[in-house]
Amino acid sequence: MQNPSDEIKSKLDIVDVIREYIQLKAAGLNFRANCPFHREKTPSFMVSPEKQIWHCFGCGKGGDIFSFVMEIEGLSFVETLRLLAKKAGVVLKKADPALTSKRNTLLDILELSAKYYHKVLTASPAAEGARAYLRERGLTDETIEKWQIGYSPDTWDSLTHFLKSRGYGENEIFLAGLSVKKEKTPGFYDRFRGRIMFPINDINGNVVGFTARVRPEKEAEEKMGKYINTPATMVNDKSVYNKSNILFGLDKAKMAIKAEDAVVLVEGQMDAITAAQNGFNNVIASSGTALTADQVNLIKRYSNNLFLSFDMDKAGDLAAERGIAQAMQAEMNIKVIELPEGKDPDECIKNNPDGWRQAVKNAKPMTQYYFDKTFLKLNLKDYEGQNQAEKILLPLIAKFGSRTEQDFWLKKLSQAVDANENSLREKLKEIIKKQSQANAQAKPLTGAMKELSRLKPSREQMLSELLLAFIIRFPAHLEYAINHIGPDDLVGESNQLLYRNLIIYYNKLIDLWTREGGNFELAINYLGLKEWLSNPDNFIQDGKVKADSQPDNYKCLSLLDRLVLLADKDFYDYSEEQVKAEIINIMAALRVNYLNNRRHEIAKLIAGIEKENINGQEKNEKMKNLMEEFKALTEEINLIEVK
Ligand code: UTP
Ligand code: MN
Repeated sequence: MQNPSDEIKSKLDIVDVIREYIQLKAAGLNFRANCPFHREKTPSFMVSPEKQIWHCFGCGKGGDIFSFVMEIEGLSFVETLRLLAKKAGVVLKKADPALTSKRNTLLDILELSAKYYHKVLTASPAAEGARAYLRERGLTDETIEKWQIGYSPDTWDSLTHFLKSRGYGENEIFLAGLSVKKEKTPGFYDRFRGRIMFPINDINGNVVGFTARVRPEKEAEEKMGKYINTPATMVNDKSVYNKSNILFGLDKAKMAIKAEDAVVLVEGQMDAITAAQNGFNNVIASSGTALTADQVNLIKRYSNNLFLSFDMDKAGDLAAERGIAQAMQAEMNIKVIELPEGKDPDECIKNNPDGWRQAVKNAKPMTQYYFDKTFLKLNLKDYEGQNQAEKILLPLIAKFGSRTEQDFWLKKLSQAVDANENSLREKLKEIIKKQSQANAQAKPLTGAMKELSRLKPSREQMLSELLLAFIIRFPAHLEYAINHIGPDDLVGESNQLLYRNLIIYYNKLIDLWTREGGNFELAINYLGLKEWLSNPDNFIQDGKVKADSQPDNYKCLSLLDRLVLLADKDFYDYSEEQVKAEIINIMAALRVNYLNNRRHEIAKLIAGIEKENINGQEKNEKMKNLMEEFKALTEEINLIEVK
């Protein structure tokens, strides 16, 4: 029987899964993208649908569907197994380790709670008021079902009681953020009581928390706030719910955002839900807080075009308050949707969907909107107004990455407030200096950057990889390579290992081919080679299977995957002649490198012998041999270099 991870792999396509996280562009038979694991401007992240693997040639990460999800979600293997099983429709058995991880238990509790609240809302007499209220706000049954909206009974322990009856412990329920510790006596009580419940999902649709709205009849007397949320929860130092890296509705909206290459950000859950009900599927909610860098990165996976529908009337440094600066720094195109005074998207969409569509179409570039708004509000004729305008707009201009953009808006400002452009530029410089000082303190070198500065392969190591990439991608040239260059000429332990095994594999094939009377086409192919490398028994040393061949065979497999993609990325359109020419050049360079190294060694040996205290005869003999080898090496080098 297939194990669950193989079954999952057979049901999912790596391209579909990675597409849910980043934008992939077709490149020959493969796909290419900007790597999500390090910062880059030219794409070096490759995905092969044929081979179901990925690799980034910038930061060196790569692997299969599991390693991608583990890396991008920061999950362990069992957690990833759970996530992908759900996507693939593979049911994991109770005995599977995936079900025993602590994080998975919390996710189970949260999902079950969402179902419980939803059931209460749709079926319980106690939720009649809540049902009427949601109906009055215009939500259809279908919408309530789709978003799993629920109701928490107005009692102290109904959820806890229910979850305990399903075998969960009080402490787990507490860790999931669903209950609160009693102050004076031991024990817990339900956190959410008598509220309309909106499950909050991560981008994969797992319930990770709730936001809960007070019943309207209690709104006036409510002291806790109109909405309350799950507190930050975590397992083993990794967050389950953390408001700073979740965006409400993104799990449902992400594909529409990608398809439309635009994302609309609203403040409230109800705004996002009403939008979706009216066919605007690319709308997500910030839940009333400032955007964080994590959230901006999440959004940027799907689109760079951000439409804001915020209440922007407040004074002060709005860019900073709302986290808009984060989006500006990430070089997103930001536009502002203007709505009639005092209305939120929920009301606008409900009353006039076409009006909303028009408002989105007419959205103003953010800086323009900001300038207009500020100038309208202030009296620019008097000193106080001019001063205010500078105070509000200079920090905004400072957030722009490009000098041209800064200059453009600086000019506008200087005209509007009748100030000298150069003196404004001086002030701007001050602000930028302060901002970058603050930034520098906040940002240590990222893991990927550290990795990169450490991992600098030598030129010869890269040439060795290239050679292997060529002969794996264009196996017709393998035999030529084998006849002209040996494993020791390659640089890098893994490269030598893979090349050695390529040769062994090829010789095996020739044996078989001879025995079968030349009855099949003699060529290596990726899948055959991969299968052969997957078997540790094939790793022979000195005529015997190596005792611990596992690590070797993993090394070869991962190098193989990486090289195959390297070849596909850079040489997929090469002709056979071009390939041949490249191979000859690389082999020559590697051979010269090998010969030079050997010549160095010999020079050292010669120097050593001269100092040695041995009898003349033996010394002369040794010396003569070394000198001859040295001469032969030099001749071979000259010969290659003349060609
Ligand atoms: P709003 O006060 O604009 O609420 O807060 P809303 O979305 O229009 O809600 P309805 O229409 O009255 O139901 C915007 C968002 O700010 C967060 C919520 O996520 C809310 O949707 N918020 C607001 C809180 O977290 N706590 C609060 O007390 C109020
Ligand atoms: Mn509202």
